[in-house]
Amino acid sequence: MSRTCIHPSILSADFVNLEAELGRIAAADAVHVDVMDNHFVPNLTLGMPLVERILAVSPLPLDVHLMIEDADRWAAGYAELGCESVTFHAEAARAPLKLARELRAHGARAGMALRPATPVEPYLDLLPELDMLLVMTVEPGFGGQAFLDVTLPKIRRAAEAVRAGGGRVALQVDGGITQETIVRAAEAGADTFVAGSAVYGAEDPGAAITALRGAARA
Ligand code: DX5
Ligand code: ZN
Repeated sequence: MSRTCIHPSILSADFVNLEAELGRIAAADAVHVDVMDNHFVPNLTLGMPLVERILAVSPLPLDVHLMIEDADRWAAGYAELGCESVTFHAEAARAPLKLARELRAHGARAGMALRPATPVEPYLDLLPELDMLLVMTVEPGFGGQAFLDVTLPKIRRAAEAVRAGGGRVALQVDGGITQETIVRAAEAGADTFVAGSAVYGAEDPGAAITALRGAARA
């Protein structure tokens, strides 16, 4: 399988100039939008009104990562807005199966995320109901953290299960992705890579996206 998707995270972008910042990542496959509520994670970012505006001006599809409590209540709203994919955290959903079905019913790809310490095994039965599985490679909450190699066996296990199910589910990693760590994550079986500081911290975000894609495929 040769699918390699790069999703820059606008968490590392200049929030006052978001429209221009979106224009700098035209080479990407989607834009990753981190929604944080200061409860599920100790940080606060943005919510539905801003996501709606980003959707209106973004040339790229939106990959929304919800780091919020009570995902059952809020996630479908992001799908209704028109986000291409909506990812909730397994730890924050009371009824993940119901929620995944709801997201799909609203026309979005259904994603589920796991914190670094959350095992994947209890969730493998859910894979047929998902379009994307996100293995967090840092503790969610902040950009610019170091990639946790301890998550590599979980990525491998998830990739095996995805392959066994026909390879239809995207396997995303998020946190600490650089030209160096993306090689290990890709080797372990990830195919969709979120990168915040590695893209927006670069002088030329477009070149950084191309370099990340090349490193993942090497
Ligand atoms: C962290 C967020 C990430 C973050 C990644 O909780 O979910 O999407 O923006 O940033 P980097 O790539 O800098 O680790
Ligand atoms: Zn994220």
